[in-house]
Amino acid sequence: MTKIGITETILRDAQQSQIATRMPFSDFEKSLKDLDNVGYHSLECWGGATFDSCLRYLNEDPWERLRKIKEACPKTKLQMLFRGQNLLGYRPYSDDVIDKFVECSIKNGIDIVRVFDALNDPRNLKVAMEAVKKYGGHAQGSICFTQSPVHTLEKFVELGKTLREFGADSICIKDMAGIMGPKEAFDLVKALKDEVKLPVQVHTHCTTGLAPFTLLKSVEAGADVIDTALSSLSGGTSQYPTESIVYSLRQLGYEVSFDDKMAKRANDNFKKVQDTAIKSGLLDPYVMGTKTDALIYQVPGGMLSNLIAQLKAQNAMDKFDEALAEIPRVRADLGYPPLVTPTSQITGVQAVMNVLAGRYKMITNEVKAYVRGEYGQAPGEVSQELIKLVLKGEEPKKGRFADTLEPMFQKTKEELGKKAKSDEDVLSFIAFPQQAENFFKLRENPSSAPKEQGTTVKYSIRKA
Ligand code: CO
Repeated sequence: MTKIGITETILRDAQQSQIATRMPFSDFEKSLKDLDNVGYHSLECWGGATFDSCLRYLNEDPWERLRKIKEACPKTKLQMLFRGQNLLGYRPYSDDVIDKFVECSIKNGIDIVRVFDALNDPRNLKVAMEAVKKYGGHAQGSICFTQSPVHTLEKFVELGKTLREFGADSICIKDMAGIMGPKEAFDLVKALKDEVKLPVQVHTHCTTGLAPFTLLKSVEAGADVIDTALSSLSGGTSQYPTESIVYSLRQLGYEVSFDDKMAKRANDNFKKVQDTAIKSGLLDPYVMGTKTDALIYQVPGGMLSNLIAQLKAQNAMDKFDEALAEIPRVRADLGYPPLVTPTSQITGVQAVMNVLAGRYKMITNEVKAYVRGEYGQAPGEVSQELIKLVLKGEEPKKGRFADTLEPMFQKTKEELGKKAKSDEDVLSFIAFPQQAENFFKLRENPSSAPKEQGTTVKYSIRKA
């Protein structure tokens, strides 16, 4: 019997996709033992937006959260999402910071590090991947899936081979927008299995409704592991429900390590999380639905909600359709980056500006940095008009941007002095200075918390 592994995403991607990563540790603490007993291939529980959210909204130390999860889940491999050279943030960091962050992630409990780069630029993946190997972790290299005139099966396979050279233990096909169809999935998984010869894991979202077909065809093509979410936080912009795919795979004769009773008990607790999130308005019914427009515009679910927020703030919701249609045009001008953090934000914000102020009448600093090559190599050609507007005759940078960055871990550690209690604190500060600084102050003096802290944006089922 063919064995299929399941990566449970409820503690990271599922809650990030549906409830803006606002689940505090206390709300999932009692599910951890059950989750550990399900028999998952891995538990994705850290990285992505969880780090930022812990410091910014939940007044939690992200490192302490990781250690507590590890303690409660000794049997299951813990997995994190790492944005390559962009760390867990939105811009490139120096190599020494990447190395130290990987070291501390593994030291505090992470087993599998999924590394991706928004542009699929290998130069942004190498340092992180090699660090994972150096500190004894499982290095999973990612291919961000997208469709464009410059993205081909051959190019994806070529990237797979490069990831293998960097020491990848497995390859993830990362379909963040849920736009990968079943045939594309079948062909890509098969090609990677045949030519790269490493375990393949498939990550997709239910956004467009393609997910169950895509997952099933991936498995038929030889995928070893798939990403799913317990049903309470599944569907819509999140992952496909774990229970349903396990049921289907078993019926089709696959072997899946999965304790139904434990999963049911864990899911029953997450039902309360879902209930509270619906009642508080945190779980917007909008993210639960199916968005077939993404098949036309290639706009991931998270990007749609950002777009709406941005337009509402400008009192310009009447420009929604226009802004949505502008996104693929800006993406083409930028040389077809896959739309994922941070390129999704870079593209989305500029698209809204183009619609409100006129095309490239105002150019964001992020687009300028992108055109200068600071985020890496664009997959295709950046529009000449945009290059002229931004560079004004200067040559775009050819080298690797991170090579121009000064090492900053040691320097920051010295600057912080006693404010930082550990290397982990220094890393929190480097990643999110303002949020970390606030968090350190609150930790020293909890009574200094502003009155509204924790009631406006923070969500908790205890308050229900
Ligand atoms: Co995802």
